[in-house]
Amino acid sequence: MEYNGFTKDFVFGSASAAFQIEGAVSADGKGPSIWDKFSNTKGKIRNNDTAEKACDHYHKIEKDVALMKSIGLSAYRFSISWPRIMPDGEGLVNEKGISFYNKLIDELIKNDITPWVTLFHWDLPLALQKKYKGFQNRKVVDLFGEFTRIAVERFGDRVKNWITINEPFEFSCFGHLLGTHAPGLKSPRAYFHVMHNVLLAHGKALRIIKKLSPEAKVGIVISMTPIHPATDTPKDKSAAKIANEFMNDITLMPLYKGRYPEELWKRAVLFRPKIKKGDMDIITSPADFIGLNYYSREKASFKWYIPILKADISGSSTPEKQFIDAEGKQRTSMGWEIYPEGLRECLHHIKETGNNPDIYITETGGAFDDELSPDGTIKDELRTSLLQKYFKAASTAIEEGVNLKGIFLWSLMDNYEWAEGLSKRFGLIYVDYKTQKRTIKDSGYWYKKLIGEICGR
Ligand code: FCB
Repeated sequence: MEYNGFTKDFVFGSASAAFQIEGAVSADGKGPSIWDKFSNTKGKIRNNDTAEKACDHYHKIEKDVALMKSIGLSAYRFSISWPRIMPDGEGLVNEKGISFYNKLIDELIKNDITPWVTLFHWDLPLALQKKYKGFQNRKVVDLFGEFTRIAVERFGDRVKNWITINEPFEFSCFGHLLGTHAPGLKSPRAYFHVMHNVLLAHGKALRIIKKLSPEAKVGIVISMTPIHPATDTPKDKSAAKIANEFMNDITLMPLYKGRYPEELWKRAVLFRPKIKKGDMDIITSPADFIGLNYYSREKASFKWYIPILKADISGSSTPEKQFIDAEGKQRTSMGWEIYPEGLRECLHHIKETGNNPDIYITETGGAFDDELSPDGTIKDELRTSLLQKYFKAASTAIEEGVNLKGIFLWSLMDNYEWAEGLSKRFGLIYVDYKTQKRTIKDSGYWYKKLIGEICGR
């Protein structure tokens, strides 16, 4: 058997996020999120695509759950849109929004698929951005706690697996430092403050969930991108070191060690937040698992003029659609190098830093330019081959002692890929955005077969 690490109880799932699939952005009393505003601002999104319809999942619960079932998934990770159930982010609860998630959860359970719920996958209520400057303000940490309480009170009788925050680094960095994601800020100060407050929000939410639902399992999802030196020179090596602190250890270290990476924190003296007494206790609140999102690696080289880092991180800057780059490496249509070894590297890094915690790969996968064949199938061999390599790496890591308990593929279906709009296809299921017709891709059938062989589903 090719994948000796996996046992029958291994969780084989797939993942999605509210803003990327639901559509119905203002239906039934939903409030706007920062992403509604950002994606409707000209020039921010490729082709100016909006997520108004996306996969119209809001109106297609039964159909989509039936597709999950036909692939054999044992779990489905989705996120709750905060402004759908609390239009202003605080105060009023929107019962129609609650009904939507009730219906989804019930449908999943009816089909023997375990719901895994992410509480924050970036679609912050716009009202909170306007009133408090979003997560730059610690007030929003408390309001996230309140939202968490409501979610657990309403859904916690059936939902036993909670993810507090999706990718603190991407949310803070793309949204507040680079300005390529909502809310579109370019401020080092905002970046470091949001980073800290989002980690605090995780710790607070975790405590609230544990109190209300002691049997529930709670964790956070972080992304990791191993960064290797572009050359063997000492300067590039130290550039890679600081870049790793910036992209990876900035979440891992506080969560497990109760401190930020030393060198980075030193260099960020002008921008970093005050860490109040007790903050690190909250952030290090013991979680039941950690979620890892893994896609690729990057390379770093020394560049004196880049502020704080003095490093250029440039692995993904290869032009799109170039599946084989100048060095002969395979890339996805995001320009991301296909690098299975990096998955093992990340899993081992978490194992060591976190004292061998339970890990779930909460996202992995790849975007390719899939097309419907005349015979009605989607022959996405590149994706299947990527998945085979990533599953092999995961299986090997388990055999090496990593406590990996499950994998959720990104994504269930093609969807709205943030600043890339509808131009990138990550799904196991192909979506025709005009007709909303869904077609399981060959990679989806490959996954079904694997799940069948290992779990007998
Ligand atoms: C991750 C996001 C997810 C998706 C993938 C491709 O950073 O969590 O929503 O966009 O990237």
